[in-house]
Order: sequence, then structure tokens, then C-alpha cells
Amino acid sequence: MQIEPFGLERWFAEYEHGAEIMLAESGVRSLGSGRFDTDPGELGYVIPTDGDPEVRAAVADRYDRDADEVVCTCGTQEANFLAVLAVLGGAHPLDGQRTARSSSGTAHAVVVTPTYQALHAVPEAVGEVTRVPLEPPNWELDIDAVADAIRSDTRLLVVNNPNNPTGRYHPLERIEALYDLAADNDAYLLCDEVYRLLAEDPIPPVASMGPHGLSTASLSKAYGLAGLRFGWLAGDRAVVDAACRWKDYTTISPGTFGQHVAKQALEDDTEAEIIAENRDLVSRNHDRTQAFLERHGLEWYDPVGVNGFVTIPDEFENGRAFCRTVVEEASVVLAPGEFFDHPDRFRIGFGLPTPELEAGLERIEAVLES
Ligand SMILES: Cc1ncc(COP(=O)(O)O)c(C=O)c1O
Repeated sequence: MQIEPFGLERWFAEYEHGAEIMLAESGVRSLGSGRFDTDPGELGYVIPTDGDPEVRAAVADRYDRDADEVVCTCGTQEANFLAVLAVLGGAHPLDGQRTARSSSGTAHAVVVTPTYQALHAVPEAVGEVTRVPLEPPNWELDIDAVADAIRSDTRLLVVNNPNNPTGRYHPLERIEALYDLAADNDAYLLCDEVYRLLAEDPIPPVASMGPHGLSTASLSKAYGLAGLRFGWLAGDRAVVDAACRWKDYTTISPGTFGQHVAKQALEDDTEAEIIAENRDLVSRNHDRTQAFLERHGLEWYDPVGVNGFVTIPDEFENGRAFCRTVVEEASVVLAPGEFFDHPDRFRIGFGLPTPELEAGLERIEAVLES
């Protein structure tokens, strides 16, 4: 099994530590720990290791599912990893008799791209993948193209909604059409919904659409609590069970601190307060970023969430050249579009505290005007 290096993480490793302003961060600025109780008591494993039943029940409620249809994970990253392994990496959860692999030895997934690299790299490591591209400038989800990509051994469709890096939020009817395709083909639809609560009017999560929907999410992006490393996978019990079998080999249980704080963040009032505060920040920052782009003739698809995928200024050869200049001359980290197979773009994350965002934009402006 081979896995591609995670391009964006390696880019961050090169620049994030030394640079002064991080405009490549894909979440909302982090909240302080001071607003939570941070004493979980004994520092053992979380028992049961798939997460506190109360937390799983609270999460499951959001999907009209039972606590047994949720496994708590270390972030969305682990949730996606486990979901892919559960569906592509062994016996097929839809049927104990059938294996995920066809007689030709493959397990096939259809992945909508561009997307967060893990969402295609992990399926590519364990099976075969057909990528279905979203096309600029509107990045619309082409259901016919997904249907054409489905094969007899397709077990998984993968989408990220709202999408990183484009900020495209696919509407309900497209996601339902995708769900129907999965159901008609005995496959699962895995939707990474980590940015979902940043939408003004979020559509229902796919795990609430029926047995073929698998939703992943976490407290990282919309809540500004990435350091908790707390997320989950919700969906069909057979997939969750298979995910738990893999989880015994990844992290065993979620972190005790993470779960302790997550419990508080997921309480209705606290959650509503955090999400309202964060949406407010995101909306303010969105407008500042949009005005900046307009001043410089740069274009994006007006994004939902905190990531925008922007055309590079004419005078630069590609995204990498532009981002390298900006980080070396202005100490601001952006994400080159090369990591999403669109070298004519860069990704900007505008979830930082507003003064920091403004300082970053001013520095980029100075590079553009020099
Ligand atoms: C679409 C998407 N999924 C998952 C992740 C990882 O998130 P987490 O911190 O919840 O593991 C990211 C991080 O950028 C992301 O953009």
C-alpha cells in the first residue's frame, strides 16, 4: 500500500512555523480554553473506546440515528480514514458475504475533486479511484459525470460539502441525487461535512438521508476547536462497526481532554453561541477579503465557509510561484492551487481574527504593488 505525501501539510511544515501570518489555515480562528472546564479527572483512555455513550447519543441525534451508529474519532481526518477503510478495505459492510473487492481484486471509489487531499489519497491507497472534477468558475457538481464514473465494483462515492478548497456548497437536490446514485448501486455516499455549520442555512447531513449516507465532521473548523482533535463518523452500523475494528489500530480511543471539552461545546446553548460568534467573524472577514480581491482584479467563486480559491495575479507563473513570493517577501502563508491540481489558483483562509486577516491582506497588497 502506497500513499502520496500530503502536499499541503508538507508546505505548511516548510513555512508555517517561521512565517508571521497564516492565511492558509482552513478553519475559524481557535477559541481559548478559558471558556471551558478543562479538568476531565482521571486521564485514562475514553471507555468505551468508540466514545462516551452520552456524547455519541448527542451526536447521533443530529442525524436521526442511534448512539451505536456513531464513532468518536480524532478529528474528521480519522473519521474519513476509518470510513474509507471500513468500506473499501475488507469485507463489504452492506453484505457479510460479499467482499468490497471485485473478482479483479479492486475496490473502487468515485471522488469529487478538487478536494481535501486525504479524501482521494486514502481511497487511492487502498483501492481504485475515479475522480470527477468540479469545473471552474462555478464548481458545480455534475451528477451525470458521477453516474458515468460508477462501475460494478464501486462501493463508495466521496464528496466534501461545503467544499475545500473552492467554497462551493452543493445544494440539497444535487446531494440527494448523489445519495440516490449510491443507493441504486449498493454503495455508500461519504460526505465530509466539517464546514457544514458555517453555511447560513445548512442542508441536512447525508447520514440523515438513509442507510447509504455516511457523514463525517468535527469541532475543528466551524467551532474553532481543532486542538481538541475531536470528530466523528455517523452512519450505517455495519460501517461504524467496521470503522471501530480499524480504529483499534489507529488511535484506540478519542482523547480524554478533547472529549471532555467537546461535551461542553456540543451543549445546545454553548454550541449556538460559538457558531453564531464564528459565523459573524467569517461574514465580516469574507467581505474584507472580497473587497481586497476586487481591488486587485482577482476572482473567486463566492465561498461558503472560510476558504476561497482565488485566481493568481497575471504577473505570476503559477500558484506556487505566487505563494512562494508572498511568504518569502511578506511572511504570509497562502496555499498553492497545485495541491488541488489547479496551479492557476491559490487558496486563502479568511477565518483569522479580523485584525490579523487585515494585516495579512495589507502585506499581500504590498507585494502586488511592488
Ligand atoms: C475537508 C476537510 N476534512 C477534514 C479536515 C481535517 O479536519 P480535522 O481537524 O477535523 O481532522 C480538513 C482540514 O483542513 C478539511 O479541510
